Amino acid sequence: MSNEKQFDVVVIGGGPGGYIAAIRAAQLGFKVACIDEWSNAAGKPAPGGTCTNVGCIPSKALLQSSEHFEHAGHAFAEHGINVSGLELNLPQMLKRKDSVVKANNDGILYLFKKNKVSFFHGRGAFAGTAEGGYTINVSGPTTDTLTAKNVVVATGSNARQLPGAEFDEKLILSNTGALAIDAVPGKLGVIGAGVIGLEMGSVWRRVGADVTVLEGLPTFLGAVDEQIAKEAHKLFVKQGLKINLGCKIGAITKGENDVTVAYADSTGAEQTATFDRLIISIGRVPNTIGLNGESVGLPLDERGFIIVDDECRTSLPGVWAVGDVVRGPMLAHKAEEEGVAVAERIAGQHGHVNFNTIPWVIYTSPEIAWVGKTEQQLKAEGVAYKAGTFPFLANGRARALGDTSGMVKFLADATTDEILGVHIVGPVASELISEAVVAMEFKASSEDIARICHAHPSLSEAVKEAALAVDKRSLNF
Ligand code: FAD
Ligand code: NAI
Repeated sequence: MSNEKQFDVVVIGGGPGGYIAAIRAAQLGFKVACIDEWSNAAGKPAPGGTCTNVGCIPSKALLQSSEHFEHAGHAFAEHGINVSGLELNLPQMLKRKDSVVKANNDGILYLFKKNKVSFFHGRGAFAGTAEGGYTINVSGPTTDTLTAKNVVVATGSNARQLPGAEFDEKLILSNTGALAIDAVPGKLGVIGAGVIGLEMGSVWRRVGADVTVLEGLPTFLGAVDEQIAKEAHKLFVKQGLKINLGCKIGAITKGENDVTVAYADSTGAEQTATFDRLIISIGRVPNTIGLNGESVGLPLDERGFIIVDDECRTSLPGVWAVGDVVRGPMLAHKAEEEGVAVAERIAGQHGHVNFNTIPWVIYTSPEIAWVGKTEQQLKAEGVAYKAGTFPFLANGRARALGDTSGMVKFLADATTDEILGVHIVGPVASELISEAVVAMEFKASSEDIARICHAHPSLSEAVKEAALAVDKRSLNF
């Protein structure tokens, strides 16, 4: 075997977990390869994984475009801007989304070159152990055999199938098809009122689809702080999303151009609904297809996740796993943090990932963002806490923007005042939450945030005001 194919670190998977691990390992002086099998429509390498190709990036591109469309149709007039002849150019909207994706794919290939990471386009599979490490075969557009002492598995996840309703990406859509519908469906069904259901449901509602969401659980967004979830539910229903909770899905039958879903509603009554398209977004499953982990004894748990310890080590020496293929939230930034930490641990450093301060964001309008504990969690754990809320209705910048829905909520320890959780539903919550993440990482108190000077007028003043409200001393409400 030629010396060029021996690496210090081979990363299998080029999503946010894998490509970031590869770059960090290269920065630390290792000889690194990253293998990724994703191809674009032209058959060219498309690194970036689910996130870049059929996840975070294209969904946010369509959320932005559809929000512009909705604003032009419904919000501009209030600002004194009259729009006539407003038309949706869906092919252009999808083309723009594709070009945003491609810019990100190309950006990663550029970063690999810049950091001297060797990129292999194909599927990586364990072929056995080699002297002091592992042999990895690459097959697909590229065929090769690599060896490495350290292997980082970052093979991500796939959409979970509903038995009896296989994705065909024409009528029954996973996230992949949901991001590429070529004509606005008259009636769109969504099974699962989770993150994808709400984001993609919002996109297609804004451009004219009649969207019905069927959720299995009786509560809306059960993982979100109850007060915030209630407020969000009210706002989404007002926007026109039809959200049915407590549904038990029965038979799903495909017609020539439509799909019929039989379900029992929350009262137990049998219902049927026919849709032009059906998105199924009921969670994701870890992906180890074709990895051939069996050849080296890579252990998986009963749900298919690669078993790792708190530091992403598998039980095999030198084999690590990060991102969606291991336990923990399926979020791009969690995968990235783990990728960096693993590269640093391989270098003998102390990688750092704090699971208590990983932010969550749902990019609906308004956005929902949170970090730390919810009020219901604190109650269940018997933690004594104080709460403070502040509505965007009382924030000058939100009024000027014309977006006053939602609130910021702080939860702090009743004795020490340490911030335990921050929950936001409102404009650009995705950006506002960063202040709370930093504060919690530094173990700040709500008093700390309340005493920090925030620019005026800014939405971030609502964060300060909610911190003041913990001590019942909001100034503007
Ligand atoms: P992935 O991104 O899935 O990447 C894995 C890569 O490995 C893929 O390219 C795959 O082709 C490749 N691969 C797999 N097996 C092999 C093999 N054997 N050989 C070679 N290559 C292989 N998260 C957020 O934080 N924010 C968001 O806004 C967000 N939006 C999302 C929207 C949607 C519609 C979806 C579906 C997900 C979204 N996520 C979001 C979740 C996010 O995409 C994932 O958490 C993230 O992509 C996980 O990164 P990863 O590197 O673990 O895996
Ligand atoms: P999800 O876990 O967010 O939501 C799935 C929903 O489907 C839940 O409400 C669940 O109760 C419901 N469900 C499950 N089985 C059902 C059934 N048989 N019938 C009816 N309802 C059922 O999963 P989703 O939306 O598929 O997204 C997958 C993951 O991708 C997310 O959990 C998140 O980790 C990631 N993601 C993150 C985004 C972000 O950060 N903004 C955006 C999109 C996805």
